[in-house]
Formats: sequence, C-alpha cells, structure tokens
Amino acid sequence: MVQKRDFLYEGKAKRIYQTDDENLVWIEYKDEATAFDGLKKGVISGKGYYNNQISAILFAWLEEKGIPTHFVELAGEREMIVKRLEIIPVEVVARNVAAGSLSKRLGLEEGTPLQRPVLEFYYKCDELHDPMINEYHIATLELATSEQMDIIKKRAWEINELLTGYFKEKGIILVDFKLEFGIHQGEVLLGDEISPDTCRFWDAESREKLDKDRFRRDLGGVEEAYREILNRLKGGR
Ligand code: C5P
Repeated sequence: MVQKRDFLYEGKAKRIYQTDDENLVWIEYKDEATAFDGLKKGVISGKGYYNNQISAILFAWLEEKGIPTHFVELAGEREMIVKRLEIIPVEVVARNVAAGSLSKRLGLEEGTPLQRPVLEFYYKCDELHDPMINEYHIATLELATSEQMDIIKKRAWEINELLTGYFKEKGIILVDFKLEFGIHQGEVLLGDEISPDTCRFWDAESREKLDKDRFRRDLGGVEEAYREILNRLKGGR
C-alpha cells in the first residue's frame, strides 16, 4: 500500500504530495474553482470528489482501450495515486463542436458542428496567460520533440474518437476537451485530469451544459451538473 508523504505543490484544482515510492505521486482534487485566467474564483461543493471519480473512470477505461495514462489507483474519495510525470508544457485542446474561444476567434455560433475536428496547442505558461501556439513554436521553444508531438497528436485523435463514442452512449455530446501529457521513464503518458473542469459536455437531447461553463457563465446548478456526469458514467441515467 502506497503511503502519502510530504506536500509537493499546489495547482489551481489539485494538491500534489510525494509518496514513499519515488515513481508515484498522490493527487488531492480540490473544490476550489477558477476561470478566466484566475480572475474568477469560487468553490464548487463536491467538485474534488466528482472530478477525482470521473477522471479515475475515464483513465481506467482509456487504459483498457490501449491509451497509456498516469493513473494507478484511487486512494480516497478525492484522492488518486498516479505515476510521476515530467509535464510537457503544452495543453492540447480537441474540438468537435464550436464553443468557447473557438467560437469567438472564428466567429462560429456556439453549437455549430465542426466539419472536421480541430486540435489546438497552448503554451502552459501562467506569465504569458497560456497563449495558443503551433508546432513550430513548440519546436523552437523545445517544449517537446517532434517524435513526442507525433505521439501526442496520434493519442489525442484516438482519445477524441474513443471518448466521443463513450459519451454518446451516455447521452452526452463531447463538445471539446483539454489534455496534458508528460514523460514517465521515457514514455509519453496522458496526465492531469479528464473532468467537467476540462471538457465541455452537453446533454444530447436538451443540449444543457453539464460542465464548468455553468460556473464560468453563472448558470447555476454547477454541482448538480458535475454529479450528473458521474452518475451517467456509473450507468445511472
Ligand atoms: O476556453 P476554450 O474554448 O479554449 O476551452 C476549450 C476546452 O479546453 C474546454 O473544454 C475547456 O474546459 C478546456 N480548457 C481547460 N483548461 C484551460 C483552457 C481550456 O481545461 N486552461
């Protein structure tokens, strides 16, 4: 049984601890929520629990489908044990339906299905406010090698295909989502989380938003939306 050790650092949504195994870290998911580059702050009651459980289900399912992830096991209601990663500072966003910043940038009405799905890259850098970048920027900044980028793109498309089908079965449209990858013992693994904080989920019938946009846009029913996603994943539709 892996033991939790010293506190390592705190991100916007999680606290990370060392463990007695140098290859593993302990993640605690928080209820605190931020949006708009940290300008909006709040607490979503139960978010840490929902995001931990949802991420665990999705990571385990993706592993079954052949996608290597950092997930090892749940360690409590809002805690999981993961492989220690050297994070590649590139956020990968996949999109199937126009929403959020893509709608704004390209003038596409939110909800417009994209003729072809889109991948975008953002430089994970707080001081620069996570600017959108392309593969030339990634190469010149040496954020990832071209071999790593080939793996990341291939995996991102596979994950999009897999999760789109998975959520469709649960009556959910996977509008878009953000992934992070890292290196563990020389291998590229999917890291971070997959949750209503990092994905846009719409109910397939009502098109109701079941994700963090409820918090970002003050729509109410935030906790209920996160709970609904976990319930659907557990099969209770
Ligand atoms: O804001 P934008 O439309 O670019 O977000 C696209 C997707 O990436 C959304 O699902 C959003 O939740 C996710 N995202 C994220 N973390 C960020 C930026 C976007 O999880 N820093």
